[in-house]
Amino acid sequence: MAAGLAREGFDLIIDARDAVALDAAAGALRAAGAAAQRPGSTVAVTAVPGDITDPAHRAALLAAAAAAGRLDLLVNNAGTLGASPLPALADYPPDELRAAFEANVIAPIALTQLALPLLRASGGAVLNITSDAAVEAYAGWGGYGAAKAALEQASNVLAAEEPTLRVWWADPGDLRTDMHQLAFPGEDISDRPEPSSVVPAFVRLVTQRLPSGRYRAAHLMPSEPVTS
Ligand SMILES: NC(=O)c1ccc[n+]([C@@H]2O[C@H](COP(=O)([O-])OP(=O)(O)OC[C@H]3O[C@@H](n4cnc5c(N)ncnc54)[C@H](OP(=O)(O)O)[C@@H]3O)[C@@H](O)[C@H]2O)c1
Repeated sequence: MAAGLAREGFDLIIDARDAVALDAAAGALRAAGAAAQRPGSTVAVTAVPGDITDPAHRAALLAAAAAAGRLDLLVNNAGTLGASPLPALADYPPDELRAAFEANVIAPIALTQLALPLLRASGGAVLNITSDAAVEAYAGWGGYGAAKAALEQASNVLAAEEPTLRVWWADPGDLRTDMHQLAFPGEDISDRPEPSSVVPAFVRLVTQRLPSGRYRAAHLMPSEPVTS
């Protein structure tokens, strides 16, 4: 997603807890952005390592946005699966449930609160990455799914409260990532698509400034008529 936005010319502020991996990603994003722009133009990429559940880290992200002078898009993508292997709700350790809600619901809402003044000033947008587990009843997915459902309804209400912004909440579909492997420990997940496969869908959502609402990446691919 960050690479797709860099290719569109977006300056980026990116975060993750692993500072070394984040720094490497920032270098690759600068190169991807520069390659797609006119010769001589650059894409600014600011890496702010930290944990999104930490209020000081959220403040640091907003300070970086304020220093940049504007904020057009906030993407709340960082999340956690919660307990793994996925336990039934009957056995879900409450502390792990609380941690899943902290990362998947409280942190993105708290970051959005901080970002709203800058987003309102630019008529910007919020993209919250959710999941089909928010709306489907998959056994074992109750903790993660309940947290994603809470993020979806918070997004829905935010869209009603902030009509000058765009607020999107979107299911990327199954993707070949570390989190997906955690959900299916020991399974071969090589048949799942790479995360890069859904980038055109999310770039379309952002660049066409589609109406606020819930979207599925599969229905946003450039070849598809837009449906939510
Ligand atoms: N993969 C799927 O099949 C799938 C399906 C539906 C929805 N989703 C959603 O898509 C989003 C991305 O999932 P993914 O599969 O790419 O997960 P992932 O493989 O676990 O990657 C998560 C990314 O977020 C960062 N991150 C995680 N926790 C963080 C925290 N507390 N603070 C800051 N950064 C944090 C991670 O970097 P660090 O570890 O360095 O922090 C990593 O870059 C999530 O919201 C997920 O729920 C994924």
